[in-house]
Order: sequence, then C-alpha cells, then structure tokens
Amino acid sequence: MMTGRRADFLVVANRLPVDLELLDDGTERWRQSPGGLVSALEPILRARNGAWIGWSGQADQDLDSFDDDGLVMHPVRLSSDEVRDYYEGFSNATLWPLYHDVVVPPVFERSWWESYVEVNQRFADAAAAAAAPGATVWVQDYQLQLVPAMLREQRPDLRIGFFLHIPFPPVELFMQLPWRKELVRGLLGADVVGFQMPGGAQNFLWLTRRLLDLEPSKAAVRVGNRPGSVSFDGRQVRVGAFPISIDAASFDKLSRRSDTLERARQIRSDVGNPHRVLLGVDRLDYTKGIDVRLRALRELLVSGRVDPESVTMIQLATPSRERVDQYKAMRRSIEQQVGRLNGEFGRVGRPIVHYLHQPVGREELVALYQAADVMVVTPLRDGMNLVCKEYVASRHDLDGVLVLSEFAGAAAELTSSLRVNPHDLDSVANALEQALTMDSAEQRERMRTARRQVMTNDVDRWARSFLDFLEPVPAAPEAATVK
Ligand code: ADP
Ligand code: G6P
Repeated sequence: MMTGRRADFLVVANRLPVDLELLDDGTERWRQSPGGLVSALEPILRARNGAWIGWSGQADQDLDSFDDDGLVMHPVRLSSDEVRDYYEGFSNATLWPLYHDVVVPPVFERSWWESYVEVNQRFADAAAAAAAPGATVWVQDYQLQLVPAMLREQRPDLRIGFFLHIPFPPVELFMQLPWRKELVRGLLGADVVGFQMPGGAQNFLWLTRRLLDLEPSKAAVRVGNRPGSVSFDGRQVRVGAFPISIDAASFDKLSRRSDTLERARQIRSDVGNPHRVLLGVDRLDYTKGIDVRLRALRELLVSGRVDPESVTMIQLATPSRERVDQYKAMRRSIEQQVGRLNGEFGRVGRPIVHYLHQPVGREELVALYQAADVMVVTPLRDGMNLVCKEYVASRHDLDGVLVLSEFAGAAAELTSSLRVNPHDLDSVANALEQALTMDSAEQRERMRTARRQVMTNDVDRWARSFLDFLEPVPAAPEAATVK
C-alpha cells in the first residue's frame, strides 16, 4: 500500500483530513473532514510537507496512497464491521462518553475492544512502513491510544508523540474501563503524551502510579513548558498540557475581505434584519449542549424577557456519527425543540431558529461569525472547542459577545467571555440576556482581551510547543530529517 518516499514527519489520526464521499451517480469526491482535529492539524502538516495516515471515512475501500498538494495521504482500510465495532462502538460509544464525564452512559463490549486492538495494530503497521529512519511520528486522539506502544515495538528508532484532543477524564471515571491498564500502557509507548489541560495530564500521571506502580513526578503540571514525567521501560516519558488553537491569522484575514462582509450583511438581511442574531456552530453531538441553549432561549421568550421580534438564532449542526443511538436521540430532541420554538414564536417568513443540519464552507462560516452578535458555545464538556476561538479571530471589528461554557477547555483562556454553567439553565438564560443587551463599549473591551489571547496563541505556537519536547533540536521543518 505504501508508495513513494518514506516520511520524516508523519501524523497518524483516525481520519484523513479529507473525507471520501460516494455520490448517487457513482462518482466520488473528497471533502474536508469534520471536526476540530482536522481543522487544527491540516495547516501545520501542509507547511511541513509531511505525510498523514488515516481512514477515508468510508467502509471497505481499498485506496492507494496519494499526494494532495504536497501532503502525502496514506489511507487505512476499515471494514464495515470495524466501522461498527472500532469506530462507532469502542471509540464513540465507549471512550467518547467515558472521557466526556459520562454525559451519557458508556457501553463496555468485549468484541468492540478486540476490534479496537486490531485496528490500532493496523494503524501502527502503516506508520511503521511509512516512517523514514529516525522520523517524528505524531499520533492523535482517543481512537488510537494503543498505537504509540505498538509502533515503538516495531520501530524503536522513531520519536513518537501522542496528543489527546478530547478531555482526559477524572480518575474515578477512567477506572470504570475494563481495559484501563492496556490503554495506559499504550500511551506510555510515546516519548511525549500531551493533553489539552493540566488536569488531564495530572490524572494520567496519577493513573500510572495506581495502575502500573510507576513513580510519576510530583510537581504540578503547567501549560506548555512545565510537563511532568514518568519513567517506563527504561525511558523517560514526558506528560504535558498543550491547549490547542486555530490558524487565527487565516480567520482574521478572511473576515476582513469585502466579499465576506457583504455576505455577512446579506445573511442578516436574509434572516429579517433582527436587532440581534445569535449563532451556534457545532457537530451534532450530545456533548455540545445545543439542546441547552435552545431551552434557555425558550425560557427567555416564554417569560417575555426577550422579544421574539428582536432576535433570531442560526444553528449549524454538522451531521456526525449518525448511526450511533445517542446521536440519533439527540438529533430528534434538537429538531423537536427547534420545531416547537418556531411553532410558538415564529411567524410566516420569520422563524426564530434557522437550523441547518449540514456543513458549510470556510467563507460562509466566517461570514456567519461576522453576522452574529452573540456566539453561543455551551458544551457540557469539551476538550478545547475551536469554534469559540474561530469566532474571536473573525471579529477584527471588536463587536460581538461570546457566551462560553465553563466546561470547555477554552474557558480557561477566554476569561473575558460570559462564562456559564451549562447544567444551570438560569446561568445560561441570564448570560444570553446579558449578551443580548450588552453595550458596544463593553463588547469591544471584552473582545479586545479575547483577541489578544487567540491571535497570539495560534495553532503554530501550539505545535511548536509540543514538538519542542519531542524533537531534540528546535521544531523547524529541517529539524525532522533523517538522523
Ligand atoms: P469538535 O472537534 O468536537 O467537532 P471543535 O469546536 O473543536 O469541536 O471543532 C469543530 C470544527 O468544525 C471547527 O473548526 C468548526 O469550524 C467546524 N464546524 C463545525 N460545524 C460546522 C459546520 N456546520 N460547517 C462547517 N464547519 C463546521
Ligand atoms: C473531534 C475528535 C476528532 C474527530 C472529530 C470528528 O474533534 O476529537 O478525533 O475526528 O471530532 O468526529 P468523527 O467521528 O467524524 O471523526
């Protein structure tokens, strides 16, 4: 399967950055894959001329490696049983809910675990075949936690990093997992294990002691240059916190373009030029709290605190993991709530909520960010949440208010946002009301503070801070050449 030159810098992720779509007329096309992992990593990989190992998003496809604008893609095949057991099952019905504070109950199923082991081995084999001697291999996210150890077994010459994009759970929750030791051992195959938040790194270090009798470092882990460490198998594994970010300059640039500004005006006019436009942008996932914000909006309308003539909400919800039961249930619930709100408070030609169950392109997304007076981000738990950072980066005009859940990793950085507890409906409703009535001076002050954070701490800086630990010399492209 592996063709061409072996790579000095390799990303291994469940998904390729592009997603294969099989169209009804028998043709196919590639589109950008959903989610924050791809949004964050793709610009970095393109800049480094690296290679990417991942799944195409379709079952049973045998695809050759290919070059996409200088980035070499190595597709990994998943059978339809593996999509069910490894991807929808163990990754998204066991690990995803377990790591997101058990907001829905995780399912523990032996056959799913077996599939997870088998598929992780396939990714490790693909990485071992594609990596040049001494290469840097960066493994991503919860779907591939066994890959670092499996890869080290075959290729001890490699520098192996692992980054978890989602939260790492509290110890008490992780301990529920029947395969908890195996996962911790899998991660310890890396030289550097990265988490979004210091708390995640700390939890992991603690588990190495509890489950494997190791002796992790005791000092508190701090963001960036203060990782912890643990010695395992004669190696020192560094364990740190590296909050991920976005390609902020590209959002800023796009948001300043005259066609974007014109499109933003058009969007506002299309929704009836209300006094205030609220916006939500998410994958349709039960962790995102889309239902929470709809309930809070309804409360404000029912109680008369907000006049239905003065507001409109636009909610984009990208289809995601659509065959998993909990996702089906959440979709039904959201669509019912949207229907109810529009039934009660809309009028002909003027719904209260414009709901789009579809992805939109980058230009349209930034125009929507520009058009929105209030960005509503209310996850029950989120590793980081890039949408809120994208909103801030798209508001060079300093207008707009961000309502942000305390349970998103980004809340630790975006301290000037209106932070809410998504489990407390009053807290969300009050913040929405405050956002809808905030004067321009306060908006500008808060947005200026948020932009200082987002425009400086971009995704390049994030990658550099991680790779500086992984690679012996500074993480410039030439630093990753063969030893
Ligand atoms: P997650 O990774 O859990 O999906 P994030 O907020 O970290 O959540 O990242 C989501 C990414 O997906 C962002 O880059 C966002 O712009 C993009 N996205 C979400 N919904 C849509 C949509 N409807 N159309 C286009 N892009 C979207
Ligand atoms: C989150 C996860 C990613 C995942 C993305 C989209 O960002 O951290 O690993 O790729 O969601 O989910 P999907 O299941 O469609 O790949």
